[in-house]
Amino acid sequence: MKIDKFRAKYSDADQLKKYAEDLVKIYKSEKQKRKELKAANVELHKAYLETIYRLAIAAEYRDEDTGDHIIRIGRYSALIAKKLRISDIKPEDILYAAPMHDIGKIGIPDNILLKPGKLTDEEFDIVKSHTTIGAKILSNSNAKKIMLAEQIALSHHEKWNGQGYPNGLSGEDIPLAARIVAVVDVFDALTSKRPYKKSFPVEVALNIMKKERGQHFDPDVLDIFLANIDRILKIMGSVKKDDFFAFKLSLE
Ligand SMILES: [Fe+2]
Ligand SMILES: [Fe+2]
Repeated sequence: MKIDKFRAKYSDADQLKKYAEDLVKIYKSEKQKRKELKAANVELHKAYLETIYRLAIAAEYRDEDTGDHIIRIGRYSALIAKKLRISDIKPEDILYAAPMHDIGKIGIPDNILLKPGKLTDEEFDIVKSHTTIGAKILSNSNAKKIMLAEQIALSHHEKWNGQGYPNGLSGEDIPLAARIVAVVDVFDALTSKRPYKKSFPVEVALNIMKKERGQHFDPDVLDIFLANIDRILKIMGSVKKDDFFAFKLSLE
């Protein structure tokens, strides 16, 4: 009898030990699986963001020799969004959305997009359609960054005074993200060299822009931009041609 009890106890303990070992094994393999899943998600997120950027490069490829314009636009916009202290636009979202502002250029024929001389009214109307084409390409997404990019693509040429295109919106009817991109896009265009023009010195560019306060530009957005011009110039100096392919994107 005593021996039977001992055997039972012994086999219970043995069994328990086995269970415990099995549990450790299961735990370890679950932990490993979770680690792999997390790495796969990070990889997928990276690929998603990279795809967004490469799509933006495709749109800029014909008339921009480098991709650094769109990197600067993303980083300038993220800085302004942060400084405006608004809750509805996350700096990280606009960092990725703003570079797609001109994605609709993909639908503009070469003979118009690359025309060296002055455009006729009809040709200019076609150029203007890059806003609606861009919005269409980006439409019906559930992803925040793409939804923001759609707003920006459609409205980045609207003006505070209602004289812009495509819809002649004015004031706060223009989505804020588009008002931000309007400011930084003009600044970057003025301070960049293009095949048809030299770059303006920063001082000259800022004077041109100040005259557009409350005309082309949302006064509050322009004020924040001007108040942070030192940081803007720091970004300007730090974005190099190679950054684009290295995806060295960061928030200020
Ligand atoms: Fe544009
Ligand atoms: Fe642009």
